[in-house]
Amino acid sequence: MATREQRGVFGEVADDYDRIRPGYPGSLVDDVLAAAGPGPVLEVGAGTGKATVAFAARGVSLTCIEPGPRMAELLRRKLPGVPIVVSTFEDWTPDRAYGLLISGQAWHWVDASRDPGLAFRALAPGGLFAPFWNSFLLVDPALHAALAEVDARHGLAPETTHSYLAAGFAEPAAFEEEWAQLGLRAEEFPERRHVRYHSARSYSSADYRTHLLSTSMYRILPPAVRDAAVADTAAVIDAHGGTIDFEVLADVVLARRV
Ligand SMILES: C[S@@+](CC[C@H](N)C(=O)[O-])C[C@H]1O[C@@H](n2cnc3c(N)ncnc32)[C@H](O)[C@@H]1O
Repeated sequence: MATREQRGVFGEVADDYDRIRPGYPGSLVDDVLAAAGPGPVLEVGAGTGKATVAFAARGVSLTCIEPGPRMAELLRRKLPGVPIVVSTFEDWTPDRAYGLLISGQAWHWVDASRDPGLAFRALAPGGLFAPFWNSFLLVDPALHAALAEVDARHGLAPETTHSYLAAGFAEPAAFEEEWAQLGLRAEEFPERRHVRYHSARSYSSADYRTHLLSTSMYRILPPAVRDAAVADTAAVIDAHGGTIDFEVLADVVLARRV
């Protein structure tokens, strides 16, 4: 389970988060809505609305749960008509049975140990649970090696945005571990599948610095370590041509409750 401290850091940089983080492919949004039945949509951990805007644009009726006041405020400015509840999902009681529960890059912050049936109970029978997230695969092996040295020098865990290399990245053979991590119990969600979307994204060294500083892993570092690590990372990118290129994987799980 994530610590309370780590999951609350995004609001410290809400504007940067909103500017620098990628959204989600339009085809992911379309496929989720095509798989969902009728009924209202609940979004958990809506943040600044990187997914919300795309779903709202397709005319669905949305309710957003977002515990970070600054993230919620930015979302409210973007979508003034959408109800936003400033709360963690665990502390909120569903007000109706939803046809679709979406959660972009946020489900892992929900403390499911408090209640493993949270998603199940927020949904109507036949409703769809669709958590999704982005992963980054670094394209240039030389840059990958150089940044691994920077991370090791600063004692960073090998889970930064640039930790994984595109070449040789293997698709998982089975998703059983993932179902378990998402808390998808077979008796509640017997029908589940995983869909992956590919896209590309490049950052200048300055924008990549902003991206790293929007991640919880960098935000919880001691400021001196964080500043030195992002400065060294940007210098290495500049020494490798000034941009860092990624293949971005957008993964969604489509799980239908009984
Ligand atoms: C990485 S951000 C993702 C925001 C947005 N969904 C997106 O795709 O950009 C994670 C979000 O989850 C929210 N969050 C953290 N703990 C939560 C919880 N227990 N329940 C609901 N949301 C939570 C954070 O406040 C933050 O806005």
